[in-house]
Amino acid sequence: MSELHENNKNSDEKERFTLHVPDFLEERLNAFDAAVEHFRTGKPVVVGGDPGKGAIILQSNDYLNLSRHPEISSAQIKKLALSDKDPVMSAVFLHEGSDKDLFEIRMARFTGFESAILCQSGWSANVGLMQAIASEKTPVYIDFFTHMSLWEGIKVSGASFHVFMHNDADHLEKLVSKHGRGIILADSLYSTTGDIAPLEDIIDIANRYDCVSVIDESHSLGTHGPQGAGLVAALGLTEKVHFITSSLAKAFAGRAGIILCSKRFAGYFPYTSFPAIFSSSLLPHEIAGLSATLDLIINGDEGRKQLHENASFLRNGFLQLGYALASESQIISLEPGPETNMEVLRDVLESRKVFGSVFCAPATPKNRSLMRFSLHSGLSKDELQYVIDVCGSIREEVGMWEWKSTKRNNSGTAGKL
Ligand SMILES: Cc1ncc(COP(=O)(O)O)c(C=O)c1O
Repeated sequence: MSELHENNKNSDEKERFTLHVPDFLEERLNAFDAAVEHFRTGKPVVVGGDPGKGAIILQSNDYLNLSRHPEISSAQIKKLALSDKDPVMSAVFLHEGSDKDLFEIRMARFTGFESAILCQSGWSANVGLMQAIASEKTPVYIDFFTHMSLWEGIKVSGASFHVFMHNDADHLEKLVSKHGRGIILADSLYSTTGDIAPLEDIIDIANRYDCVSVIDESHSLGTHGPQGAGLVAALGLTEKVHFITSSLAKAFAGRAGIILCSKRFAGYFPYTSFPAIFSSSLLPHEIAGLSATLDLIINGDEGRKQLHENASFLRNGFLQLGYALASESQIISLEPGPETNMEVLRDVLESRKVFGSVFCAPATPKNRSLMRFSLHSGLSKDELQYVIDVCGSIREEVGMWEWKSTKRNNSGTAGKL
């Protein structure tokens, strides 16, 4: 690059950086700066240190430890080498027999649904679905802890909503009997707390009150149920549920989402839902990777067994140490409460080479931040025992006995959210 060019570039950059920002944006930027400046690192509390070599990283949702599996990468590479045309376009233009169509048929068969719709992400599956099924006239019932993408979908649809208390089917029924039939939204396995929804009760209410049911199985598809077909399948409820949605960025270790539904709905959605129409489809090599992952998941009983053994080992270890847990799964979270407590916990854990994910508002209610450990099937007992030993040795240092969650636990309301 010539000196003249470089000088011009610098003066352009200077101008850009001094460009006036109107008050409405300035206020938002200032609020962010003020919110993070009291943290030791000057960064949001979710950003910890760099794990480096030898750390135990419990942050990924790759529950079956598949993301680096050679069969997935070789399927992707093969497709990249062979594809003579890459359909870089919206899926509305794709035909029967496309890679997307063939993968959808496999996913429908795998889960026991009539049809499946492959989406660009779990987020776009949920937002797109809500936009396609709800309107201002539709009451929507949503569990308080349901994933943000479904909340966003409600906003996009303009529907009115009624929040039911977490995992409280009686409360749901009260709301439905008062406000009338509508759409019921819940996660099967909650992404922050790791507890499981009372699916039988929720689906029973949906069916008795003529409601549409949407269950987000992002954290149970691949890890639970027969051959990993999910919790709805495990409970024999498939024929009673209208929609299952899932991110394929968890056990499927990819970058995609899926909606499982009826054949009729699958014919309607691609031409109705804005994320389906106005955002490009996945690329063939991404779909080839997902298809290879599906084979591994179907044959993954050993990995699932290991995952659940690992989860129960860590849960038991934490419970014996006096930590309060809501978890019933591979997602195991400690609740230090306010973000200042979280900062201490994060740094103390990281100094001992244990890395979890920090969840705070808006992912949790304010002052109920969580340190989430996501487990996978490849963790050894020694690694898990190390995490338990670390969490045992730091209880005083992080003030664990004073956490509200610990006090709730000791007063017999452990796991109540
Ligand atoms: C329950 C749940 N639903 C949906 C999503 C969104 O999925 P994606 O990351 O594929 O957009 C997530 C991801 O965090 C999730 O945990």
